[in-house]
Amino acid sequence: MKLLKNNTKRAQDHLFAAQTTYYEQPLTLVDGQGTRVRDDNGTEYLDGFAGIATNTLGYGDNEVAQAVAEQAKKLTHVSTLYLTEEMLDLAERVAEVAPDGMTKSFFSNSGSEANEMATLVARVAKGSPDFLALEQAYHGRTVYTVALAGQSNWRNFAAEYPHVAFVPSPYCYRCPLGMEPTSCGTACAKAAKRVIETQTNGKPSAMIAETVAGVGGIITPPPEYFKVLQETLKPFGTLLIADEVQAGWGRLGDGMIGMVSTYGVVPDIITSAKGLASGLPIGITVTRPELADIFKGPHINTFGGNPLSSRAAKVTIDVIEKRDLIANAKRQGETLMGGLRELQQRYPLIGDVRGHGLMIGVELVKDRTTKEYAPAEATRLLEEMRKRHVLIGKGGRYGNVIRIQPPLIFSDGDSREFLKAFEASLAALA
Ligand SMILES: Cc1ncc(COP(=O)(O)O)c(C=O)c1O
Repeated sequence: MKLLKNNTKRAQDHLFAAQTTYYEQPLTLVDGQGTRVRDDNGTEYLDGFAGIATNTLGYGDNEVAQAVAEQAKKLTHVSTLYLTEEMLDLAERVAEVAPDGMTKSFFSNSGSEANEMATLVARVAKGSPDFLALEQAYHGRTVYTVALAGQSNWRNFAAEYPHVAFVPSPYCYRCPLGMEPTSCGTACAKAAKRVIETQTNGKPSAMIAETVAGVGGIITPPPEYFKVLQETLKPFGTLLIADEVQAGWGRLGDGMIGMVSTYGVVPDIITSAKGLASGLPIGITVTRPELADIFKGPHINTFGGNPLSSRAAKVTIDVIEKRDLIANAKRQGETLMGGLRELQQRYPLIGDVRGHGLMIGVELVKDRTTKEYAPAEATRLLEEMRKRHVLIGKGGRYGNVIRIQPPLIFSDGDSREFLKAFEASLAALA
């Protein structure tokens, strides 16, 4: 038997304590293929979380691997001071799949950077330092994006943040306004007016919103939400920024950009990262020329649009289309959510099942009537799923929402296997 290295100790000795990992005994992953990853003990897991909703095409995809290997022998890095064919090819491909008129991209390396660029463009365009975000939002880990976080546990930088006012989130299961979703008239979106009038200078540059809040607990707005929100912002000249870092590139199962295809709203600026390059680092800010060109720089991003990530991203978009993975995300999402709702009938721990496509949340509660949060049970469920060789994530302000965000290549068999393990894990908890 192979003698395992003590990676928990190695991490304690040499990594920052701030780097939080899942599981009582952190998992060390060594390789992956398709929807499976393998740990340093040789155990294989079905991956229901895809490296935080990132490995769109799973692991070891041939087309991505080939493109990256070919590129690595040629040109890996030049910086944004030079043009490359790969960066330009990707920008053109993004313009093809983005909504009409959103033809310009700025490339960076992460969701945080993509959001930084979006907020910079909005501030330069509108000239106001004030911003709006949603309660329970998560937009990254730079000082500005931490300022946009609507959760105290993520506002932990001991920094003086720029002014951001928070709009109540479209969290129908726990309506922040205490209303019934069937008769509220989307009051949470309309509340943006009151927030602007009472907590800002009356003309915030922009409001940033995740199409579906991931870290916040897969908060899934009702269908009309973004239309009402956009109408509410319009009289104030406030731009709408869609943070599609988790929701983009087909995950919601209706089209490439969730806010456009699932909610029927074209925002002013789109940001994304994670799933775009199927696991290679990338960030992207996309908008119309009049906004894109408003900030004249100078500005650079050393690794932004690097040829490796750009090749991987273009291949990812091509493969999503070629293999019809958006339709697959919808189908597997329906199977998974159907199965989870059936389990909800039998397990009172499940308070709510929500999401779109392969962005699914299962909110755990100690009691269905009081909706008391069940964070310890969520932590235990992660461990039980691990024992059954399936990886999942969690989120929510209190860490009581299970997040299911697998690669878009999840198969019928994967979904069945996932549900079987989920049921057995719930049974073990009960
Ligand atoms: C919605 C959203 N925006 C931005 C980010 C930040 O992305 P990154 O970690 O790549 O900086 C994340 C990361 O989880 C995210 O979920």
